[in-house]
Amino acid sequence: MAQATVSADGLTRREFLYYIWGASIALFAVQFTGLLIWFMLPRFREGEFGGKFTLPVDTLPDVNEPPFDFPDGRFWLVNVNNMVAIGCERMWAASGDGDIEGAVAIYKVCTHLGCIYAWVNANDRFECPCHGSKYRLDGRRIEAPAPRNLDRFKLLALDENDSVLAESTVDDKGSYSTLQLPAGTAFLQIDTGDKKSGDSQVLLSDFPKNCP
Ligand code: FES
Repeated sequence: MAQATVSADGLTRREFLYYIWGASIALFAVQFTGLLIWFMLPRFREGEFGGKFTLPVDTLPDVNEPPFDFPDGRFWLVNVNNMVAIGCERMWAASGDGDIEGAVAIYKVCTHLGCIYAWVNANDRFECPCHGSKYRLDGRRIEAPAPRNLDRFKLLALDENDSVLAESTVDDKGSYSTLQLPAGTAFLQIDTGDKKSGDSQVLLSDFPKNCP
């Protein structure tokens, strides 16, 4: 008949294996909990790309003026209104646009192959140096090869106590709409961890009589 082996300190082999098994389970539980906590921690800190940036409302340019460049957050801030554009100004209206009015935070990466495009004052539009895509002040495509309009970040209007007065909503094209700032807006908050892709609207260069 088989007998349990007893070690020098009084543990049977079976007890020893139980302890090892228990210790392994405990170690796995600790590792799993650690990973879970790590996973749940915010990925980005405030003021870091991928996080939230809070800027005074007067950072926003005047209506249809050239965009405000914010390299740390990789976005442009623009203030657009296609109802006050005249002739070949920056926010010339195109058929099918509807009324476009308010503030937008636009991601600085071209939707074609990811180059960093620039605002070109002389031409009143964004231009990509890599393959020539062009975009209107609000990020709508003027010329390909970009497959869609520029992407946008979520924008919030805050009062002096940092309470949210309004925030950008998702439009029927799946991108963030322009945000009209309520009275009392003291700060703008741009959430660069919350980006929506631009829509593949008709190229503005396809419309007759457009300015570019
Ligand atoms: S990456 Fe901008 S046009 Fe190709």
